[in-house]
Amino acid sequence: MTLGRMSTPRQILVTTALPYANGPLHLGHMFEGLYADFWVRFQKMRGHQVLFICADDTHGTPIMVEARKRQITPEQLIDEAWKDHVKDFKAFSIEHSHYSSTNSPANKELCEHFFAKMKEKGSLGAKTIQQLYCEHDKMFLPDRFVKGTCPKCGALDQYGDSCDVCGATYGPSDLKDSYCAVCGNPPVKKPSEQILFKLNDYREYLQGWLPKHTAKETANKMLEWFGEELREWDISRNAPYFGFQIPGHPDKYFYVWVDAPMGYVSSTKEYCEKNKLSFDDYWKSDAKTEVYHLIGKDIVYFHTLFWPALLKAADFRSPSAVWVHGHVMVNGEKMSKSKGTFLSAKVYTDHLDPMYLRYYFASKFSSGVDDVDFNLEDFAQRTNSDLIGKITNLASRGATMLGAKLDGVMSEPDAEGTELLKRAVAKSEEIARHFEEREFVKAINEIRALADEANRYFDEKAPWKTVESDPKGTKQVLTTTLNLFRKLAIFLKPVLPEYTAKVEKMFGEAPYTWASSEQTLTGKAVGKYEHLATRIDPAKIKSMMDANKQELAERAERDKKSGFATKAKTGAPVSTTTDAKPAAAPAGRDGGLAPEIEIDSFSKVDLRVAQIVDAEEIKEADKLLRLKVSLGPLGERQIIAGIKSAYSAEQLKGRLVVIVANLKPRKMKFGMSEGMALAAGQGGSDLFLLSPDSGAKPGDPVK
Ligand code: MSP
Ligand code: ZN
Repeated sequence: MTLGRMSTPRQILVTTALPYANGPLHLGHMFEGLYADFWVRFQKMRGHQVLFICADDTHGTPIMVEARKRQITPEQLIDEAWKDHVKDFKAFSIEHSHYSSTNSPANKELCEHFFAKMKEKGSLGAKTIQQLYCEHDKMFLPDRFVKGTCPKCGALDQYGDSCDVCGATYGPSDLKDSYCAVCGNPPVKKPSEQILFKLNDYREYLQGWLPKHTAKETANKMLEWFGEELREWDISRNAPYFGFQIPGHPDKYFYVWVDAPMGYVSSTKEYCEKNKLSFDDYWKSDAKTEVYHLIGKDIVYFHTLFWPALLKAADFRSPSAVWVHGHVMVNGEKMSKSKGTFLSAKVYTDHLDPMYLRYYFASKFSSGVDDVDFNLEDFAQRTNSDLIGKITNLASRGATMLGAKLDGVMSEPDAEGTELLKRAVAKSEEIARHFEEREFVKAINEIRALADEANRYFDEKAPWKTVESDPKGTKQVLTTTLNLFRKLAIFLKPVLPEYTAKVEKMFGEAPYTWASSEQTLTGKAVGKYEHLATRIDPAKIKSMMDANKQELAERAERDKKSGFATKAKTGAPVSTTTDAKPAAAPAGRDGGLAPEIEIDSFSKVDLRVAQIVDAEEIKEADKLLRLKVSLGPLGERQIIAGIKSAYSAEQLKGRLVVIVANLKPRKMKFGMSEGMALAAGQGGSDLFLLSPDSGAKPGDPVK
């Protein structure tokens, strides 16, 4: 009876995508966590054995960028994130069996094991690719360590992978005027050998796998890639990288997307070891267990091509299914940091009870990939009218009347009530099927329809009118009403576990299983009605959104101030030769000598001979010329020089000058200036470029 209709319990493992440890959890993470939590709790109520596994995704460049910004180590960052994430999930009653981290010994070991297997299977290759390299910092620059001008919309200071302004995606080499996000110098291209995973070796396997383990729309979309060879996947990254070092390749690290999905497995392993369960039952064979990955539509490629191929290479089982969901929108639009709609989990819980979001999301979730709108008005209205108006009121009115006006003990339902209760029981399996199929919206619709019937019954019987004249009949009506309510609470338990726990207490019962809904309580004393839920106050939603906006603005401000990955303001003076305003000139220029310096300070300045290969006037600027100078073997540079009043563009071409070659490049209104040409004089037309005697070659050091 307690196992519902199933006789042998299923063994199930459910995972949600591992949140990045580079920031706080937001509404999108709660979306996914809640979706899985509803399903897991439902399965547990049906008597099945379910592991709900997740972890933080702790490696890769966004983590490095964030740690640098905050001037802490990546380890400190991921520790903090882990604690915050666990707290947030708990606040929303998202109950993992185990929440680990990809930066764990178990995960490292697993990653190395997978790598050895890939090698053994002959699935690894190598290729030399050109990558951006910063000669100043002596490092290859990952996407997010390169910034520059968006090739599509021209927005300044964008990362090497995508533009925050227009949303375009591209590679770091596509950026215009790119510069190293650490030091600001322009990067060079340098060859680097990378390790590749030969995805195409798994082509046939994947072609067979996809339709069996993903929904039709997902499989069809992925199969579109099979028109041509599946491209090799670059699984290595150059040091420095926060991640696991690749065995046998001291300066290479596993790309974060290699060790991230392994977190599903290593986290399971940790749990199994602690709880004396058979790990092999979960990940080595698919005979005894079902494994489901729940993910958002943005990471399908990784989960349905790379991941099953990796599992195959390592002789692990593959997931029974990968479930893909759409994204949450706010008021019909993509969540946006600038609009303040990128709602953090923490800000939500500071203002509202997570129960409301659980109910609202459940009323919208389905098994498809459609986006789900979190409409603030609808959220308050629907939650108030359903959860409070239709459902909770049955209990508060019924139990209060029974306790206050009668003796607080239920009798039995009347004839009409008996019919109604039967109908509700008959719905139980249908509602269960909706939960099983992740059609939460349909389950909630059924529950709401039952609540409507219960309210109709209650209003028709109008027990408040009969309580004096017909206490016996009234008691039957209240008994029916409370029993109907009890069933609704049982059906809602996967969604509202705390709410239902209070109902269990009110009726003095053990924790409900799904089968508890088949029972009808008669002749039973009902405990005091304990407050279950109040209406959402729309003012609270407003203050929540205001607080969120505020927090996002503060965060953006902090990022700006952090110095990392931000450049000088557009149009800032760049050198003596661009100094329009003498205020920025060093002491000594207009008369007195500058203070003494040590030779060390001087030797930090890298002076070089350069040849002006091209010069043009910048029409919009009074004082500026754009120079292209050659440093011979060291390449070419652009310098924006404030010498227009002393020289014409034409007369400069071919001329040798002396430049400060290691001056931090600066982004100016008219482009990057990557150095400074030395000139004597007071400025304006009183300006004389320094040149070496003949014989000096471009690129020569000047000492
Ligand atoms: N770290 C990777 C996943 C690695 S899994 C081996 C990642 N992390 S994430 O933090 O960006 O996203 C975690 C999950 O949240 C993903 O499934 C993602 O689709 C989901 N969501 C992020 N934003 C979302 C919405 N706006 N709406 C719903 N879910 C979305 O990707
Ligand atoms: Zn650099």
